[in-house]
Amino acid sequence: MSRYFRAEIKENRPVDKSYNILGLKPLKPSREPEPGQFYMIGIGGEYDPLLKRPFSVFRKNSDGFQILYRIKGRGTLLMRDMKEGVVIDVLGPLGNSYPLPDKGQIPLIVAGGIGIASVFSLAEKLSGESYMFYGARNRDELLMLNELKGLAEELFISTDDGSSGRKGTIADVLNDFLTHPSPVTQAKACGYSIYACGPKPMLEAVSRIAIDKGLNGYVSLEENMACGVGACLGCVVKTREGYKRVCKEGPVFPIEEIVW
Ligand SMILES: Cc1cc2nc3c(=O)[nH]c(=O)nc-3n(C[C@H](O)[C@H](O)[C@H](O)COP(=O)(O)OP(=O)(O)OC[C@H]3O[C@@H](n4cnc5c(N)ncnc54)[C@H](O)[C@@H]3O)c2cc1C
Ligand code: FES
Repeated sequence: MSRYFRAEIKENRPVDKSYNILGLKPLKPSREPEPGQFYMIGIGGEYDPLLKRPFSVFRKNSDGFQILYRIKGRGTLLMRDMKEGVVIDVLGPLGNSYPLPDKGQIPLIVAGGIGIASVFSLAEKLSGESYMFYGARNRDELLMLNELKGLAEELFISTDDGSSGRKGTIADVLNDFLTHPSPVTQAKACGYSIYACGPKPMLEAVSRIAIDKGLNGYVSLEENMACGVGACLGCVVKTREGYKRVCKEGPVFPIEEIVW
C-alpha cells in the first residue's frame, strides 16, 4: 500500500490561540499509524510552500486521524487557514513507533510543550497504565488536560512560570518521582520505561536522569525535514553508531543511543 494519499480536511479547529487540531479523512484505504509515527502534510498549493511539513499522529478517530499543531511559521500559518472539505496531499505514516514496555514495567511518559502531540496516542494505547509528566511554559500552553487525566494512572504537571502545577522543569519532577517513588509504584514496578518527546534540552535532561538511574527508554526527536523518507539526509542526528536519519531510523531512538 502506497504511503502517498489524498485526504479531506474534516476539521481544523483551535484548541488554544496558538494550537489547532487538524482532522483528516484519507480518500482511499491507508496504513494505520502507530504512536510515535508521523505524516508529511502538504500545505497550500503545489509549489508554495514547496515542502510538506512533518507532524506526529496525535490520535486516530472514526474519520481517519488527527494532528495537533502549533502555529509557528509560514507553513503552519497557512495551515491554520485551510478549510473543511479541502483535499490535501499527505505522506505517511512514516518513521518508527514507540516500542511498548516489557511486562511489569511501568511506562513513564514525559512531554514538553507540543511534544504532547507525539505521546498522546501512546498514553491512549497504554490505557491507564502510564504515569504522565507534562511540562509547558505556562498554564495556557498545557493542552488536552481533561483528556490526559483520564488516560494516565497519574498526571504530573509543571510550568516554567509556576502558573499551573510545580514551578520548574518537568525533568525535575521526573527526577523527584524516581528518587522518591511512592510505595504503590515501588510495589508495582519491575522497572520503568521512559518515553519522552519535547524540546532538545528537556530530552537531554531526561536522558541523563534515565542513564544515571540505569533506566531504559526512548526519545522522539524533531529535526527540520525536507523529504521525510530518508533521501535528502537533511534530518541526521549524531548517535553512538554514527549519523542516523530522524525520518527513517527514527524519530524514536533508545535514550542511550543519542549523542547530545
Ligand atoms: C517527526 C516530527 C514530528 C513533529 N510533530 C509535530 C506535531 O505533532 N505538532 C507540531 O506542532 N509540530 C510538530 N513538528 C514540528 C513541525 O514540523 C514544525 O513546527 C513545522 O514544520 C513548522 O513549520 P512552519 O512552516 O510553520 O515553520 P517555519 O519555521 O517557517 O518552517 C519550519 C522549517 O521548514 C523548512 N522550511 C520552511 N520554509 C521553507 C522553504 N521555503 N524552503 C525550504 N525549507 C523551508 C525550514 O527547514 C524551516 O526551518 C514535528 C516535527 C518532526 C520532525
Ligand atoms: S528528511 Fe530527508 S532524509 Fe530525513
